[in-house]
Amino acid sequence: MRIVTVHTLQAQIEKEIVALDLAKAPRELYAPVSYMMSMGGKRIRPLLCLLSYNLFNDHINKEILLPAVGIEIFHGFTLVHDDVMDQAPVRRGYDTVHKKWNINVAMLSGDVMCIMAYRYLCEAAPQYVTDILQLFGTTAAQVCEGQQFDMNYEHLARIEEEEYLQMIELKTAVLLAASAQIGAIAGGATVQNVQRMYKFGRCLGMAFQIQDDLLDAYGDSNTFGKTIGGDIITNKKTFLLVQALKKAQGAQQYKLEYWLKNRDAPPEEKITNMLEIYNELNIYEQAGKAIDHYFGQAEKELTAVALADERKEELRNFAFHLINRKK
Ligand code: IPE
Ligand code: IPE
Ligand code: MG
Ligand code: MG
Ligand code: MG
Repeated sequence: MRIVTVHTLQAQIEKEIVALDLAKAPRELYAPVSYMMSMGGKRIRPLLCLLSYNLFNDHINKEILLPAVGIEIFHGFTLVHDDVMDQAPVRRGYDTVHKKWNINVAMLSGDVMCIMAYRYLCEAAPQYVTDILQLFGTTAAQVCEGQQFDMNYEHLARIEEEEYLQMIELKTAVLLAASAQIGAIAGGATVQNVQRMYKFGRCLGMAFQIQDDLLDAYGDSNTFGKTIGGDIITNKKTFLLVQALKKAQGAQQYKLEYWLKNRDAPPEEKITNMLEIYNELNIYEQAGKAIDHYFGQAEKELTAVALADERKEELRNFAFHLINRKK
C-alpha cells in the first residue's frame, strides 16, 4: 500500500504546470495563461483527482497527472471569464486578467485554456479516455449553466434556497465531483465506488462554495486574495443573502431591500450595512452549520467507499482542511 501525501502530490502538480509550453507566440494569447497558471491557487481540483485516484491505485504517472492538470487549466479558464462577468479586479492577490490586459485578451486566453484542458484530459489511459471526456463535457456545460443562473440571479429581488443550491451545485460542486470521479475512473475503481466518489466531491463542493460565499463577506483581504465584499456590491445571491432575505422581517427587511436597491451607494457603506444585517440575523453561524451539514454528507459518502479506513486518511484530512480554509 502506497498512500502519497498531499504535499508530494502538490509538488508533482506544480512540476507539470511549470512544464506547460506557454512561452510561445502570440504573447497576448499565452502570457495570460502562464500568468493564471503560475500565480498560485490552492490546486484543490487536481489534488482531489489525484487523492481519489490514489485510493484505488498506487502508481501515479502521467496518465493521471496530465488529466489532473487539465482540470486545473479548465478551472483557470472559468476564473478568467468569471472575473470579467463579476467585474472583479483582484484574484489570488494579483490584478485579474481583464484588468492587467483587457476584456478581449481575457476572452481568448480563457478560450484557449478551455481547449488546452481537453487536450490534457485526452492524455488519460486509452481505455478510460471516452468515459472521462464524456463526464467532463457534461460537467463543463453544467458549469456554464450555473454561471448563467448566477448572473441572472443578480437581477432578481430574491431567490429560493432551492434555486441557490442548484446554482452552486452547477457552477462549483460538479467540477469537484468530476475531479474526484475522474481520479476514481482512472484508478480502476468499481462502478459503485466511482459513483460514490462523485457524490463525495459534490457534497464537498457544496460546502466549499458556501465557505467561499462566507469568506467573500467575512474573510481577510490579505489571505483571501479577492476583494472582500465583492458579492455584496454586485447583489450576488450568496448563501448569506438568500438566508437574510428569508429571515429578515419588518425594519430589517426594509433596510435589506433599501441596500439591495441602492446600486449607487458607496461600496464601503453598503458592505458595512449589509454585514450589520447579516450579523443581526446570525447568518455567519447559519452558514457554518450548512457547511458542516454538507461536509458530514461528504464524509458519509467517503465512508461508504469499499476500502480500508486508513486508505482514506489522506483524502479525509484534505477535505477537512479545505472547509476550514481562510482562502
Ligand atoms: C474559486 O475557486 C472559485 C470557486 C469555485 C469558489 P478556488 O477557491 O479553488 O480558487 P483558487 O484556484 O484556489 O484560486
Ligand atoms: C465561482 O463563483 C464559480 C466559477 C468560477 C465557475 P464565484 O464568482 O463565487 O468565484 P470567485 O469568488 O470569484 O472565486
Ligand atoms: Mg462568479
Ligand atoms: Mg467571481
Ligand atoms: Mg465567490
